Parts: sequence; C-alpha cells; structure tokens
Amino acid sequence: MRVAIIGSGHVGGELARAWAARGHDVVLGARDPGDPAVVARAASLGAGVATAASALDAVVAALGALRGTIVVDCTNAIAPGPAPRVGHTTSSAEELARRLPGARVVKAFNTQGAEILRRPVIDGVAAAGFYCGDDDDARRVVAGLIADVGLEPVDVGPLRNARLLEPLMLLWVATSRAVGSRGVALTLLRR
Ligand SMILES: NC(=O)c1ccc[n+]([C@@H]2O[C@H](COP(=O)([O-])OP(=O)(O)OC[C@H]3O[C@@H](n4cnc5c(N)ncnc54)[C@H](OP(=O)(O)O)[C@@H]3O)[C@@H](O)[C@H]2O)c1
Repeated sequence: MRVAIIGSGHVGGELARAWAARGHDVVLGARDPGDPAVVARAASLGAGVATAASALDAVVAALGALRGTIVVDCTNAIAPGPAPRVGHTTSSAEELARRLPGARVVKAFNTQGAEILRRPVIDGVAAAGFYCGDDDDARRVVAGLIADVGLEPVDVGPLRNARLLEPLMLLWVATSRAVGSRGVALTLLRR
C-alpha cells in the first residue's frame, strides 16, 4: 500500500519504520524535503520524502480534495494540564474530517506512547490499537495497518467515538507518569 505520513517525528517515524518493514511504500511529508537530516532519517526508516505544507490547515488546503482517500489521524490536541483541547461535543478527528470533505478519516495510534509502536508486545500481550471511523472499508484497511505495526486492532465504531479515544491518551499519560515509565500500554481483555 502507498502510505504518506505528514511528519516524521516520534509517531510518524515509528509508523514509517514499521510499515516500510512490512513492504508498504512509505513517503514522509516534510517541511523541507531537501533537508539532509530529513533525507537521512527517511533513508534510515526505509521511506521516501515529499513536501508538506507549513501548517495543518495549509497541508489540508495543499492536499486539496481527498475524496475517497483514507486519512489516518493519530494526533492528540492537548491543552496545558494536560487536558483535551476539544472533546465531549467534538474531537480533533471530526474537525479534521469536516475540513476534508469526502475523505475517509480513521482515528488510530493516539492512545499509546510512540515507543510502544516500536515494541508493541509486553509480556506476550499486544497493546491495543484502538481505532474508529465512519467508513467500514477504511476501518478494515486501517485495522490491517494497525496489525502490521504489531498492535491488536480494536474497533471502537464511528468517528464520533474519537471523543472517547482522544481523552484516553491522557489516561495513558497519567498512568505513565504515575508508574514512572513510558513502557506501559492499554489493552482490552476479551472473553
Ligand atoms: N509522542 C507520542 O508518544 C504520541 C503518542 C500518540 C499520539 N501523539 C500525537 O501524534 C502527533 C505527533 O506527535 P510526535 O510526538 O510524533 O511529534 P514530533 O516528534 O514533534 O513530530 C512532529 C512531526 O510533525 C512535523 N510537523 C510539525 N508541524 C509541521 C508543519 N506545520 N508542517 C509540516 N510538518 C510539521 C515535524 O516536522 P519538523 O521536524 O520539521 O518540526 C515532525 O516531523 C501529535 O499530535 C501528538 O499529540 C504522540
């Protein structure tokens, strides 16, 4: 699959590494695709580099119509506290979807630290990869990408449930601070 990742930091870098290793064709969207550091990082991750606009709104505008394209939103809009910047009546995933008419937005990869993306299995149990979105086919595709990273895909239903997933990151942050380790992850027991 051809995957474009906007950003090559902690989360984008780990996703690029995992997906490139699984044979996906990964391109990193960078502010300056000619920056030698960016080029070297992309090469070390097995990814290519392309341009990205200089702000999320500009990225959205620059990308233009994404009708039908699957867009994975892994962001967390966090205010000082930390507290959710939006929530309860909307979510950053829904706000993104509003700006991308026709795009099939799926929320995923926002409920664990980036390190977990590199080592997703703890004591034999894979961390949960919670995801939600309104398009069944897009959810299936993203479930595959989550499994490719090594997380256990957990379907959380429609995109409006990003209102629940986005605050979940704060639970992860609080827990991580309380136990003094970023090597913690959420999972879902099933019977
Ligand atoms: N870190 C975590 O553990 C974690 C876990 C779950 C979710 N998240 C969420 O995932 C998102 C990314 O987090 P991160 O920790 O990966 O951040 P990060 O390490 O700071 O990386 C952010 C990346 O986005 C790029 N970027 C930022 N602003 C940009 C712009 N205006 N135009 C183009 N590229 C831009 C940066 O490029 P430059 O290098 O050029 O600045 C960098 O490559 C955040 O919303 C965060 O809340 C993070």
